[in-house]
Amino acid sequence: MRKLDTKTIVVASHNSGKIAEIADLIGPFGFSARSARELNFAEPEETGTTFEQNAAIKALASAHASGLPSLSDDSGLVIDALDGAPGVYTANWAENADGSRDFAMAMAKVEQALADKGAMAPSQRRARFVSVLCLAWPDGHTEMFRGEVEGAIAAAPRGTSGFGYDPIFQPEGHERTFGEMTAEEKHGWRPGQQQALSHRARAFKLFVETCLDA
Ligand code: IMP
Repeated sequence: MRKLDTKTIVVASHNSGKIAEIADLIGPFGFSARSARELNFAEPEETGTTFEQNAAIKALASAHASGLPSLSDDSGLVIDALDGAPGVYTANWAENADGSRDFAMAMAKVEQALADKGAMAPSQRRARFVSVLCLAWPDGHTEMFRGEVEGAIAAAPRGTSGFGYDPIFQPEGHERTFGEMTAEEKHGWRPGQQQALSHRARAFKLFVETCLDA
């Protein structure tokens, strides 16, 4: 287990929703964090078949390009009734032929796939969001942190907060979808607090406990 001994890191992502959430989470720790997107790093191809593999590909590409420790996030929605789909292909489900992303279309695809399975009752729509954060150093060392949040796919999209599939994910024990929560409510975590809510905040909490002397 390696500690992070610098206050400058790169957030190895080109996804503005993720970059904003990681910036929120890391803010209180006094880091100067720039993103792979603003540094114009090439987006590596995600050729892995697990969240861990893809997280490592992104973090290592950024660590090598920048010479700085880099923190990536590979995440996705895992739906039981769809045998774990879209899983590591969650971003691909939103892709148009021209490479742009359309999450209204992706959420409609999820709904259609569930309808095709006859999965209309909440108990048949169990799902979880998974986030694997990888911290990679330029010498190739990596540390991984996995966070998951259980929930269900809502009957229809609700809310306009957050990003991606947030409007259709209702975390267990909550009445609102992530799309109806503020960023703070979705993270459900502040430094020093025991519990976090979102998959990303849960993984981030493990990163803090492992790599930071916080
Ligand atoms: P990745 O860049 O391959 O990790 O893609 C992850 C996909 O999962 C993207 O399409 C995201 O929109 C979606 N996703 C991951 N985390 C969240 C989240 O917190 N809310 C909504 N969608 C998410």
